[in-house]
Amino acid sequence: MNVLVTAGPTHEAIDPVRFIANRSSGKMGFALAEAFVAHGHAVTLISGPVCLSPPVGLAAFAGVVSSDEMFDAVHTHIAKMDLAILCAAVADFKIARAETQKIKKAGREKLTLELISTRDILASLKNISSSLRVVGFAAETENFVENAREKLSRKGCEAIVLNDVNRTDAGFASDDNEVTVIFREGPQIRLPRASKRQIAAQLVGIFANRHKM
Ligand code: CTP
Repeated sequence: MNVLVTAGPTHEAIDPVRFIANRSSGKMGFALAEAFVAHGHAVTLISGPVCLSPPVGLAAFAGVVSSDEMFDAVHTHIAKMDLAILCAAVADFKIARAETQKIKKAGREKLTLELISTRDILASLKNISSSLRVVGFAAETENFVENAREKLSRKGCEAIVLNDVNRTDAGFASDDNEVTVIFREGPQIRLPRASKRQIAAQLVGIFANRHKM
């Protein structure tokens, strides 16, 4: 199976030295990519800026910085994919007009940045091909299952892997995670707290079975 995984945060430039980012470490996406490789799949990993080395044995790796770069990289590779798992914490907003020179503080009491929506990569894969299966992640801090189910239908994917990002012992930047896989039609599967590598191996099992490998 050809599998595409996105991982990490994106960085949205404010000026040449500053950017907007988030707490994603990329560990969950990299663990997923590694687990799919270990199960013999051809894996393309597209990652935002992280401090991790790409797993050995990938079919392809693309390092990107911004949400626009990640969008383009995903669409460059998507045609030949059977499964896309979008684990990246893509910025929802970017600067309307990034400055080409460093913003100076002299003479300013305050600074207002105008933000505009980024393109939703996951939603852009809706209806792209009947043979492509798409799985999203949802980072939530409240109304977990309700919010995840809303995302599942709005973004048109087959399943959402729900993360509680309030927790300090799992989720963002941690080596551990605890997730619930919610299928649009079908079961809700809770994976209790375990290392991201163990969670990744379980996710591969779930999605490989679902895909009748
Ligand atoms: N996602 C994406 N492109 C974006 C934003 C999010 O592909 N511009 C994907 C993420 O990779 C993830 C899923 O959408 O698979 C859900 O991301 P999340 O941040 O939880 O949801 P949002 O749609 O950004 O909604 P909100 O931040 O309001 O919860």
